[in-house]
Amino acid sequence: MTKILSIFSQKGGVGKTTVSVNLSAALSLILTHKNPEKPGRVLHVDLDEQAQSVSVLAKIGKENGEEKPNGNLADVLMWNSYTPVSMLIQQSSIPLHGGGNLDYLPSNRKMMARVNSVLENAGIDGLHRLSEVLEPIKHFYEFIVIDNPPSLNYLSLNSLITATHVLLPTQLETPAVDGLVNTIQTIRRIQNTHNRKLKLLGILPNMCDFRMSGHKRMYEIMKEHYKGLVLPPINRRSEVTYATTKGLDIFSFRPPRSKADLTSSSLASKDFGILANIVLKRMLE
Ligand SMILES: Nc1ncnc2c1ncn2[C@@H]1O[C@H](COP(=O)(O)OP(=O)(O)OP(=O)(O)O)[C@@H](O)[C@H]1O
Ligand SMILES: [Mg+2]
Repeated sequence: MTKILSIFSQKGGVGKTTVSVNLSAALSLILTHKNPEKPGRVLHVDLDEQAQSVSVLAKIGKENGEEKPNGNLADVLMWNSYTPVSMLIQQSSIPLHGGGNLDYLPSNRKMMARVNSVLENAGIDGLHRLSEVLEPIKHFYEFIVIDNPPSLNYLSLNSLITATHVLLPTQLETPAVDGLVNTIQTIRRIQNTHNRKLKLLGILPNMCDFRMSGHKRMYEIMKEHYKGLVLPPINRRSEVTYATTKGLDIFSFRPPRSKADLTSSSLASKDFGILANIVLKRMLE
């Protein structure tokens, strides 16, 4: 069964897009290594109107995530398109040196900005729209990774209702940790109502700098409070942002020394490699 991982936080700027792109790349590299001839496929779905993930995935030789001739995800979500969603699928240019097994659905910033209110006006039908849209294509994929807008709206609700797993990036500073409390309450509500199968895969401390005593202390408190839920941290490193601005995932920017082991590389790729291995293991449990 396809595992659908939603990268969610009600707080903005915690690294949802960065984590979703790098995890999609990592999963596609792991699947390529497992079966180089016919690797399993990964789909990245960008629900944020800023379309930042899509602009990385579509970067090389494409039009920066803007509308493709076949239409876009916003059109389909708003019941505006007769094009089957399978015709929208585009193969991503990243990860470089991968098996070409990472796909995405094109976005359109202007149209995506309208989707939330259209879904909200549709009431209950608007909550299950993403599930309906993905239904005909999800069997093509082993993993679907969803990047979300930085708020709880109809788009992120759709994502949490469709997902099998949710991963919560956070920073180790007070406003972000306060946001995490609200985010976890939201997940519990969804688990009790619309999606009983949704598993909280983990809380991911991102942009950590353990030279700062505040970060160290917050990480310890978090591990104590949320027990097995806190994942190994991703450190704050300029390479992470630099890779994104170059339109690359971290494994393309700093390739691992061994294709068999994503953690065999620079410090930044190592963090994401360790994360990908744990995420994979937890999704397959
Ligand atoms: N581990 C990291 N080290 C350094 N910079 C990072 C790291 N993770 C994310 N960033 C940077 O932090 C900024 C915010 O990250 P990102 O856009 O991924 O967050 P987001 O949660 O998707 O934001 P939004 O809520 O606006 O969608 C970006 O400039 C990104 O490059
Ligand atoms: Mg984002």
